[in-house]
Amino acid sequence: MKLIARLTAATAILATTTLSAETAPNPNAAEAKAIVQEFATTLQGELQAAMKDGGPTNAIAVCYDRAPAIAADLSERSGWEVGRTSLKTRNTADNAPDAWEQKVLADFDTRRAAGEDVQPMAYAEVVETADGKSFRFMKAIPTAEVCLACHGSDITPEVAAAIDERYPEDMAHGYGLGDVRGAFSLSKPL
Ligand code: HEC
Repeated sequence: MKLIARLTAATAILATTTLSAETAPNPNAAEAKAIVQEFATTLQGELQAAMKDGGPTNAIAVCYDRAPAIAADLSERSGWEVGRTSLKTRNTADNAPDAWEQKVLADFDTRRAAGEDVQPMAYAEVVETADGKSFRFMKAIPTAEVCLACHGSDITPEVAAAIDERYPEDMAHGYGLGDVRGAFSLSKPL
């Protein structure tokens, strides 16, 4: 009897340990989330300041110059590949989604249509690449009020012309409040 009781207790402890290991936060996902947080905060701060200074026409330069620069700086400092992507890109040359990103972005749209909150929406997966395993992470970016001046369906002719000058193949307009505008996309070789 005693032995069985002890065994049961040991099994219970083992089960608890396994369970907590499985549910423990993934350190890679936590690291990716922290990088996304820094990217989002830095960019939004600069965007809002530029919008206040000279409106959306002035702020286009922030998106054009600063978004890729912040991404490059974060990539260099963290060892992750850091970028932004979307199913309808503005900067298609740099931000077009690969097949895996397309699938995750389509899934984000499905999840939103099913009523899920876009703000915390994210997805992580370990994928096989030609060079071995890689940890990939995407975090959805909701369309906020401030985004509509440049990504909405009622863009002023002045702003539209400034966008068109730099991005003649722009697809990133016609979004509504709360739509998934795109995602931060990060990857790291394992
Ligand atoms: C002043 C105009 C402007 C505003 C406001 C603006 N954007 Fe953009 N957005 C741009 C430009 C220009 C680019 C292309 C940047 C580049 O060259 O990488 C861009 C690119 C993006 C991209 C990368 C994918 C792509 O389409 O190339 C995402 C994601 C994005 N914007 C989301 C947002 C969100 C979310 C907001 C609101 C918080 C916002 N933007 C506000 C002008 C703007």
